[in-house]
Amino acid sequence: MKYILPFILTIVVMISLSCSSGSNEQNKVDELIEEMTLDEKIGQLNQLMNFVDTIPVDPYFYNLLKEGKVGSVLNGYSPELIKEMQRISVEESRLGIPLLVGRDVIHGYRTIFPVNIGLAATFNPELVKECTAIAAKEARSEGINWTFAPMMDISRDPRWGRMVESCGEDPYLTEEMTKAYIQGFQGDDLSNTKNIAATAKHYVGYGAAIGGRDYNTTLIPEAELRNVYLRPFKVAVEENVASVMSGFNELNGIPTTGNQYTIKEILKGEWDFQGFVVSDWASIRNLTTHGYAKDSIDATLKAFTAGVDMDMSGMHYLDNLKILVENGSIDESLIDDAVRRILSIKCKLGLFENPYGNNENELLTEQALDIAKKAVIQSTVLLQNKNQVLPLSKDVGKVAVIGPLADAPHEQMGTWVFDGKSENSITPLNALKNYLGEEKISYAPGLKISRTRNREGFPEAIQAARNSDAVILFMGDESILTGEAHSRAELTLPGYQNQLIEEISKLNKPTVLVMMTGVIHMIEPYLEKVDALLYGWHPGTMGGPGYVDLLFGIESPSGKLPITFPRTEGQIPIYYNHNNTGHPADDESWVRMYDIPVKAWQTSLGNTNHYLDYGFEPLFEFGFGLSYADFKYSDIELSKKVISMNDSLVITAKIKNTGGCQAEDVAQLYIRDLVGRIVRPVKELKRFKRIKLNPGEEKIIEFILKPKDLEFHDGEKWIIEPGEFQVWIGNSSKASLMSGFELK
Ligand code: GLC
Repeated sequence: MKYILPFILTIVVMISLSCSSGSNEQNKVDELIEEMTLDEKIGQLNQLMNFVDTIPVDPYFYNLLKEGKVGSVLNGYSPELIKEMQRISVEESRLGIPLLVGRDVIHGYRTIFPVNIGLAATFNPELVKECTAIAAKEARSEGINWTFAPMMDISRDPRWGRMVESCGEDPYLTEEMTKAYIQGFQGDDLSNTKNIAATAKHYVGYGAAIGGRDYNTTLIPEAELRNVYLRPFKVAVEENVASVMSGFNELNGIPTTGNQYTIKEILKGEWDFQGFVVSDWASIRNLTTHGYAKDSIDATLKAFTAGVDMDMSGMHYLDNLKILVENGSIDESLIDDAVRRILSIKCKLGLFENPYGNNENELLTEQALDIAKKAVIQSTVLLQNKNQVLPLSKDVGKVAVIGPLADAPHEQMGTWVFDGKSENSITPLNALKNYLGEEKISYAPGLKISRTRNREGFPEAIQAARNSDAVILFMGDESILTGEAHSRAELTLPGYQNQLIEEISKLNKPTVLVMMTGVIHMIEPYLEKVDALLYGWHPGTMGGPGYVDLLFGIESPSGKLPITFPRTEGQIPIYYNHNNTGHPADDESWVRMYDIPVKAWQTSLGNTNHYLDYGFEPLFEFGFGLSYADFKYSDIELSKKVISMNDSLVITAKIKNTGGCQAEDVAQLYIRDLVGRIVRPVKELKRFKRIKLNPGEEKIIEFILKPKDLEFHDGEKWIIEPGEFQVWIGNSSKASLMSGFELK
């Protein structure tokens, strides 16, 4: 051994040099692979969670680390244990290969930002990038070097509990947010110890779960797969995302974790993805449950053959890959390819030189909290503001603060929070006390939690409201009611929140409802019961201060809906970028079901695709959000009315702030391809831009489109098809300022 150690140290030092230099990194990785035994190679493909968070590391896990049988650890630990596990790997295993330390850093590490559906509602990729860079720096400072984010599953079904982690229903918005997340997490140099490796997940189509039921079957035709669900992942690969996570869902009969077509042919073939594919939690093991593999050996073979490089917590690769290599089912060269992909990311992260993070213990800095507050402000969507009850005046008098989410520091952080601490949360109640003074605030939750089903707290809440000049209701869900495995068939507010809103509304006080949730609730019944409605997505650490700035007009709301709001669950799925059909419903002047005359002739109600009871319009459309100002769009102009395949098209419009305060709006550009070899959506978002205007100020907004932006997949190939297009500019998917052009 005494002769081997210096030789091995030379290898590792040589890799260190090469990784840091960035040159011929591949050769040095290959040299290390040459040195590795088959067991050590398979160890790199094995990711495990050590469920025993103790130091010294428990003997079972210690031995796995020392024998080089763990390539990555995930979740669950203290920074001290992470450091100790990394030390064992680097200093006590034969080759000293450092660990990838993975964690779900989804919307913040210690500074918690709004949940991802809220970050999408900012329509501000630059801000999302800032949030993500802060999360990366905080995580890396505690030894984390890999996050399982961003999640980019297109989701059109609000019953799906994981919509909260997504960027909503639109592929373009999701693409732009994907770029921001990856740039934020990975920066421009992964070896910079302020950055961490990112993961594009869940590959692919997970959000199309039938019935919105998590983990359910997905049936997605090729054109839809290409034009909607795969788009953000292609962008992630173009952004050099370090890893891709295969999903739990079965896609058209083949589980995505065993799907050669999507992983080997598209991701690693067509797109030439150079990173590595990690399974979802034990999703290799799940291949047997799906009925796609007959046992663990078969599941291992199918996942590895499909192109899954790392087994997350399934122990299948560790237990079975060697058998499959030795019986000739898997060629060792394929093992080498998987190992190479993983070691290359470890190299890029600089882990061979510095496996222990940046140790700059900069958590919850002032800058981080400022950005977090800005994210709360820009993610919150103003859906109603009757009688201009908002913004409230600071001289409003006494304010009743009511609702189970008003002072819920843990809940306001939302789902997927491993390292946020509720003691760092500033709740709406505390922020209002700080801003108005405690003597101005009467607090009465009314309900102990969101699911309380009794009226015991009502008298106190009603009394507080009666004795106040204005009422602010903070309603919604505990964070556990959102996220993975937490889908819902009914989307009204849980518990007696409806009843509480009803009782408070009888007092006829200026009443504001602030929703704090990760769920798209059916809120139509509340619109007539409250004056104003702010839709806040579990806002994270700075929820309170962000809401205070909005409630009192220090900032104007500017969030826009990244997801269509149905009027009732029965309208689901409902999304703006739908196809026209042959019987499109085009107005709501339909006869209301209870007004239909008896013996009405069967075609007297029209033959269009609406519901007799709920029509066809959503409650609020994609891209919608009010402001304290008003914005007028006019004078749309196109640089050309006919463009060739080599042209660009410049589209401009005027936007004027006709309101009384400075505010930001999100200008959105939509197109429609009027005729296609397969039918095309009635509208598609193609550009958006935030714009700040003073009262009375007018600016010209400019967007540039290229024929490439009009490309679509017809189920067999990508095409850019000549024809007529409509184009709109406005501040929601109902934009009406329209023009048109022809692509020759
Ligand atoms: C979970 C989720 C995935 C997460 C992983 C690790 O089951 O599906 O999004 O990153 O396991 O926690």
